[in-house]
Amino acid sequence: MSKQPSHMTILRKIFKAIDIDTVLEFGTGLISTPFFIDRCKSVVSVEQQDRRFHQMAQVLHEEYQHLLPLLLLGPGRGSEWLASADDVYDLVLVDGHSQARYRDVNEAFSHTEIIVAHDTEDKRYSWEKIVVPEGWQIVECTAAPIHTTVWTKRAEVVDALTAKKKENE
Ligand SMILES: C[S@@+](CC[C@H](N)C(=O)[O-])C[C@H]1O[C@@H](n2cnc3c(N)ncnc32)[C@H](O)[C@@H]1O
Repeated sequence: MSKQPSHMTILRKIFKAIDIDTVLEFGTGLISTPFFIDRCKSVVSVEQQDRRFHQMAQVLHEEYQHLLPLLLLGPGRGSEWLASADDVYDLVLVDGHSQARYRDVNEAFSHTEIIVAHDTEDKRYSWEKIVVPEGWQIVECTAAPIHTTVWTKRAEVVDALTAKKKENE
C-alpha cells in the first residue's frame, strides 16, 4: 500500500494520465498545494481558517504568483463564492472545511469535469447529500484506510484510476 495520503496517490495518477493546467482546491495544505503549484499554470486555493491562511497560502503566494489564495471564512462561503463565478477548472480538489465538503462537490459539478474529494469514508462529512448530475462517473478509491472519491466526465480518468497498477506508480 502507498505511504502517501490517498488523495495524493489519486492525483498523481490523474496528472500522469492527462494534462491538468488549472486547479481549484478547497483546503490549502503542505501536501496538495505545492504539488499543484509545481505542475499547474494556475492554482486557486481556498482556505477557511484565518491563521492557516496567513501562515501558508499568503506566504506561498509571495513566491508563486500563479497561486491565488482565497480566505473565505464560514463553511458555506467557498461554495457560495464558486456559485457566483463563471470559472472553469481542469480539476477541483475538495479537502477543506469539514462542514462544507458536500456543498463544495455539488457546486463543483458546474465548474469542472474532474472532482477529487478526500476522506470520503468519513460519514461526518454528509457525503450522502451529494447530488450527482447525469453523465458523471464515480470512482471510489478505497485501497488506503482514508478513502478518496473521484467524480468525472472524462473516460481517460476512469481508465487511469481503474487500471490494475501498483498504487504509487
Ligand atoms: C486536511 S487540510 C487540507 C490539506 C491539503 N489539501 C493538503 O493536502 O495538503 C483541511 C483544510 O480544511 C480546513 N478546515 C477543516 N475544517 C475546518 C473548519 N471546521 N473550519 C475552518 N477550516 C477548516 C483547514 O484549515 C485546512 O485547510
